[in-house]
Amino acid sequence: MAKATLCFAHVFTATAAVLWMAAAGYGQGEAVPSPCSNNNGGCQHMCNVSISDSDSLLAYSCTCNIGYHLAEDMHNCVLVDEFLLYSDDKFIKGKVLSNVSPGYIAAIPPVTTSNAGSAGLDFDARDNYIYYSDVSQNIIYRIYRNGTGKEIVSTSPNGCVEGLVVDWVAKNLYYIDSRKGTLNVVSTRNVTNQRVLLKITKKPSVQRGIVVHPNKGYIFFSEMGISRAYTDGSNLIKLNSHNQRWPRGLALDFATDRLYWCDVLSEKVQHSNLDGTDVRDITSTSIRSPWLIATHKDWMYIIDWDRDAIMKLHKLTGVLDNIEVRQPRNWLMGVKVYSEHEQLIVKNHPCSIAADYGGCQKLCFAVPFKKWKVSLLKARCDCPFGEKVDSDGKTCVADPNAESMACPNAQDFACNNMRCIPKAYVCDGYDDCHDNSDEVLNCTRAEYTEPSPVPTVVPVSGGASKCIQCRFVITLSIVLAYLFVV
Ligand SMILES: *[C@@H]1O[C@H](CO)[C@@H](O)[C@H](O)[C@H]1NC(C)=O
Ligand SMILES: *[C@@H]1O[C@H](CO)[C@@H](O)[C@H](O)[C@H]1NC(C)=O
Ligand SMILES: *[C@@H]1O[C@H](CO)[C@@H](O)[C@H](O)[C@H]1NC(C)=O
Ligand SMILES: *[C@@H]1O[C@H](CO)[C@@H](O)[C@H](O)[C@H]1NC(C)=O
Repeated sequence: MAKATLCFAHVFTATAAVLWMAAAGYGQGEAVPSPCSNNNGGCQHMCNVSISDSDSLLAYSCTCNIGYHLAEDMHNCVLVDEFLLYSDDKFIKGKVLSNVSPGYIAAIPPVTTSNAGSAGLDFDARDNYIYYSDVSQNIIYRIYRNGTGKEIVSTSPNGCVEGLVVDWVAKNLYYIDSRKGTLNVVSTRNVTNQRVLLKITKKPSVQRGIVVHPNKGYIFFSEMGISRAYTDGSNLIKLNSHNQRWPRGLALDFATDRLYWCDVLSEKVQHSNLDGTDVRDITSTSIRSPWLIATHKDWMYIIDWDRDAIMKLHKLTGVLDNIEVRQPRNWLMGVKVYSEHEQLIVKNHPCSIAADYGGCQKLCFAVPFKKWKVSLLKARCDCPFGEKVDSDGKTCVADPNAESMACPNAQDFACNNMRCIPKAYVCDGYDDCHDNSDEVLNCTRAEYTEPSPVPTVVPVSGGASKCIQCRFVITLSIVLAYLFVV
């Protein structure tokens, strides 16, 4: 855990210390016990003794662990409930939105990713989880915001998982698998429950944005243009495609129900209604090469790759308020505003925990429907790969007719966990599938035939170097985009 040096601090004044000493019955010049020795000075987390400059008196101050700030009583610690969450090529970091005191800006202990960084990034503030995809391993992880409890959510992604998003109500995580060309879902209640929702274009892409509106029942994702579907993958439509040329980095502004995105080619930020109508441009001289975007209250936070920075701008006028992060050499790859207050649950949501997740055994999707012209949500239960919903509409039974898990490319080997790997990786002594299913069948070299459990921490060496680096794909795609379209 983090040490006190990185924590928020408020220091008692020397006057307060003198008052404390007087109250405790000590005169000046007497040897006094540390004020922290008695009940930790009343501090909830840490007590810090200091010498006040004038009279060499002992004073003390309370400090809090990373992720907390000092309450108004100067003794208790309060969890920071909103902060900027972002990732670069080495770490996932949290930065407090308003600087409590200079120098104390870390809102979470930094999460180390493998050498290529993490592109997909989201959170579930109700469960205190941060979700991210590791670019070189192509694995989706989650970790508590306090830095503990790291675990694998999905090993099956094959291409680079650039976008992932969490429905914090129905507890579903969506991601795009660019090798298979699929939009997939994983239940965060039980991550063994996964399925393919939609087939989309199979091209390894530039960063594809994906967002979910749990309280309206929609998912949005960008390809060439922006597509919208119900949360269960049905009712797929293209939104207003003539207006967008190369949208990236989607964001939903839940306060106004507007969809925001960066257009990579026109280098503009745009926003529209949830049905794609009323597209507006934000023109700002501060924006040069917008890539990813997050909105929060009156602000948007934009990763600009030309400036190597995360900029805070007004979400309607585009006026620059602050440069939040500047990282000349580290690639900024993800940005969100972690906020409990953004992740609301509407009353009577059919897939909420209060509704027992719609009574669904494994997966619950809240899909829109209209009754007397009023938009409402209803629960639709679904089942993981290889199973189907039973006649009760809720429980899951084996489905003998399930589509085969076969990989779309003939040169690929299908792992048991739905991952696709090149056949040449089978029996090469490295667990490329991450469930060892590529190393157990007919591998003749005895030392490699031992099945091993899915590792919780996957070694970075070996197989990782075989993966296509997202960064490379992303850069290449931008170059191609300029060549072909401009
Ligand atoms: C403890 O107090 C001293 C003096 O006020 C200060 O310089 C130091 O940074 C404090 N340490 C922590 C961990 O806050
Ligand atoms: C970290 O957070 C999780 C979830 O809130 C909690 O269960 C766990 O006890 C915390 N661990 C520490 C060391 O604070
Ligand atoms: C998760 O789901 C799997 C398969 O659906 C089931 O076998 C397993 O018991 C579940 N785990 C928990 C903790 O509920
Ligand atoms: C293993 O090899 C044998 C003999 O070459 C073959 O008959 C069998 O189908 C193979 N099994 C698998 C699972 O590849």
